[in-house]
Amino acid sequence: MKEIGIALLGLGNVGLGTYRILANHAKDIERRLGARVRVRHVLVRNPGKSRPEDVPASLITQDIKTVLNDPEVSVVVELMGGLSPSREYLEQAIASGRHVVTANKALLSSHGEALFSQALARGVDVHFEGAVCGGIPIIRTLREALASDRVESLTGIVNGTTNFILSAMADEGAAYADALKRAQELGYAEADPTFDVSGMDAAQKLCLLASLAFSARVSPDSILVEGITSLTPVDISYGREAGYVLKLLARARRAPEGMDVRVHPAFIPAASPLADVRSAFNAVLLQSAALGASLYSGRGAGDMPTGSAVVSDIIDTCRNLMAGVSGRLPLPCAPHVQEAPLLPSGE
Ligand code: HSE
Repeated sequence: MKEIGIALLGLGNVGLGTYRILANHAKDIERRLGARVRVRHVLVRNPGKSRPEDVPASLITQDIKTVLNDPEVSVVVELMGGLSPSREYLEQAIASGRHVVTANKALLSSHGEALFSQALARGVDVHFEGAVCGGIPIIRTLREALASDRVESLTGIVNGTTNFILSAMADEGAAYADALKRAQELGYAEADPTFDVSGMDAAQKLCLLASLAFSARVSPDSILVEGITSLTPVDISYGREAGYVLKLLARARRAPEGMDVRVHPAFIPAASPLADVRSAFNAVLLQSAALGASLYSGRGAGDMPTGSAVVSDIIDTCRNLMAGVSGRLPLPCAPHVQEAPLLPSGE
C-alpha cells in the first residue's frame, strides 16, 4: 500500500491528540484513503522533556532540517502555535513544495495573506480546519458547502475557554479565577490565556470565518474586541433574572455600507440556540440567502476535538496529493480578495 509521510511540528495538547487519532484510527484512515499515513518526525522545542510512551523517541527531533531534508515527508503539520518559529517553518515547508496543515489562528490571522499567496504560487495545499472551533467543520462549511450561497451574517461562540468560564460562573457559581484555572487544566486555554479572556483568540477566529464568508480580508486589529475580564457574577445573575444568558459573541454581518465585525460579551435570550451552548462547546449560527439559518455546534477546544479537525485536514491533503489536484482550494486571502470595508466599531 502507498505510504504518505508527514511530520508534526509541536507535541502539545493538539499535537498529541493528532498523533493519537492518527495511531488509533490508522486502519480506518487507510481504508478511506487507500494509503497509509506515516508520521516520520515529531519536532519539539525541548527534546529533553519527558514524552508520553506512545510517541516513539525515534520520531522526536528538534531540528527543522531533519524534517525538510527528508524526501519522504510530503505534508508538514504545524501545531506549535505562536508566530515564531512556526511562520518561518511553514514558509520553508511551502518553499520546499510541502503541503501544510496548521491550526494556528494567530499566525493565519496576522500573516495568512503572505502564506496563502506563497502556497498559491507554489501550488501546494494549506488546510486549517483546526484553527477555528476545534472539531466543528466550519471552515469546510464556509469554503465548500456554502460556496453556492451568500452568507449574510454569522454569530458564534468561538472560544471554548471563555464559554467554559462563563458557564461555570453561571451554572455553578464558580469564581472567575478558579474557572480559568480549570479551563487551563483541561487543555482548553491558549499557552497565554490572555488571548482567550481578552477576546483576541475569538477575534482571530472570527476574522478567518468572516474572510471566508464574505470573500474579503478582515484583520483582528481593525475590529472591536472586548473580552470577559471585566464581567462579574452580578452581571451574570442580573441577566439570568431577566431571562438572559451572558456569552462572548463573535459577530459578522454584511451591511449596505460595509461589514460589521466584532467580538464582545452580550446578553442573549435564554431561548436562543446559542444560550444552550455550554462548557467548552462552540457554535456558529449562519444566515445565508439560499439556505436560511443553519447552526453548527460541537466541542470547540481540547486535544481530541481539535486533533480530529487536524487529521481530517491531513486526510484531505493526502487525497488531493494522490489525485494530483493540490492547490485547488480557495483561500481566504488569495490575491483577488480585497480588504473588507468595515463599519466604524461604535455603530
Ligand atoms: N483556546 C482556544 C479556545 C482553543 O479556548 O477556544 C481552541 O482554539
